[in-house]
Amino acid sequence: MNGSEKPAIGVIGVGWVGLVTAGCFAELGHPVVAMDVDQAKVELLRAGGTLPIHEPGLPELIDRNRERLRFTTEMVEPLDAARILFCCVDTPPTYSGDADLSRVEAVVGALPEGGGHALVMKSTVPAGTGAAIRRSNPELVYVSCPEFLKEGSAVRDFLEPDRVVIGSDPGAEWAADAVAAAYEPLGGRIVRTDVASAEMIKLASNAFLATKISFINEIANVCEGVGADVTEVARGMGLDPRIGNKFLQAGIGYGGSCFPKDTQALKQLAGNTGYHFQLLTSVIEVNELQKRRVIAKLSKHLGSLVDRKVALLGLAFKPDTDDMREASSLVLSARLQGEGATVVAYDPVAESRADQLLPSVELSETVGAAVAGADAAILVTEWPEFGELDWAELAGRMANPLIVDGRNFLDPGALRRAGFTYEGIGRPADGGEPVAGG
Ligand code: UDX
Repeated sequence: MNGSEKPAIGVIGVGWVGLVTAGCFAELGHPVVAMDVDQAKVELLRAGGTLPIHEPGLPELIDRNRERLRFTTEMVEPLDAARILFCCVDTPPTYSGDADLSRVEAVVGALPEGGGHALVMKSTVPAGTGAAIRRSNPELVYVSCPEFLKEGSAVRDFLEPDRVVIGSDPGAEWAADAVAAAYEPLGGRIVRTDVASAEMIKLASNAFLATKISFINEIANVCEGVGADVTEVARGMGLDPRIGNKFLQAGIGYGGSCFPKDTQALKQLAGNTGYHFQLLTSVIEVNELQKRRVIAKLSKHLGSLVDRKVALLGLAFKPDTDDMREASSLVLSARLQGEGATVVAYDPVAESRADQLLPSVELSETVGAAVAGADAAILVTEWPEFGELDWAELAGRMANPLIVDGRNFLDPGALRRAGFTYEGIGRPADGGEPVAGG
């Protein structure tokens, strides 16, 4: 690929979205200037070596495109080099549930008037943000281009998009055309629309996926009462193309940096406009309760959890990431400790984050060490390596071989043969009464 022919791109904020965006545009042949206010992060990225985030394929991608990638803390560098600036700063939720847009506002404030730049919003923002920004900065050329990247497959998602949504309002067509041209080689369907609709596509997509998960989780809870197996139910449902088989895996709730935040933000946004988003409110509540139902599953077999030792297998909110934001493990460990249990945990990559987030949880180097002497184990994250364990050997190490498979990842028959009492989510369970509330 000949880099010199492609226009330079600026990326503001090199968190997870920004780094993937920067690396992938460099891969497509664009010179990329990526700016972040975090000096330590920029130095780390300049030096090469370990990236600040765990994302498969990203280190190799960054390494092979180093000559087209520049990292800086100076805003003037992307401004000098590029007209198109992708805004990838984070928009965390505030106490009210609204998105915190202070970092976005700081970026907007740093753009020179009449500099010929366009700000392309990748960060997830409430619908109406583009309009609000333009009201206070009428000269700003603004494009909405929300990201649909999944952690763990973000590089592939970027390079093989199913769609690229580009929202622009009159006056910003040149910038929307430039963004479309940058994505065009990837071959995904390009959806051109207005800014507010583009913003809404992102929020509505994530809210719909979260709804699918909470729906199948509630079906799982009903399955437990009627003796059905939710994995079978989902298999049968998913063959209807109107339903589809994706996002129908019951478990102990969704987490991560997007679903919890974006569902809250959309609920809040609706409320701010005077509309009570009843369905989404329930989706969020079901997800919270789903994390807690595990406690009842343990109590069913163990009675009181006081002084019981419980091992969490996996801490990340899903496999192939070290991200623990809003992970079910956080709620679970706090609830277990609240019930008087001692919590130990093993995760293949999230250990350094866990050190900070779960200071009272003992972290083990191996699954074997985590389950030694434990009264129960809970599979929280479906790391592939958990599918290859010698479960009979692990059962022998435990004080009580009880496993709650929070992701329906393991083979119940194999676990039972290995000596375990097995509890899945929405699957026929061993002994005791079905879990009612949670
Ligand atoms: C999500 C969206 O998929 C992506 O398009 C958006 O840009 C960002 O948010 P991500 O947060 O990386 O991506 O995770 P995803 O793979 O979608 O999973 C989210 C959560 O849902 C995880 O905790 C996962 O365990 C859970 N999940 C997913 C289920 O519980 N059941 C499912 O069937 C699917």
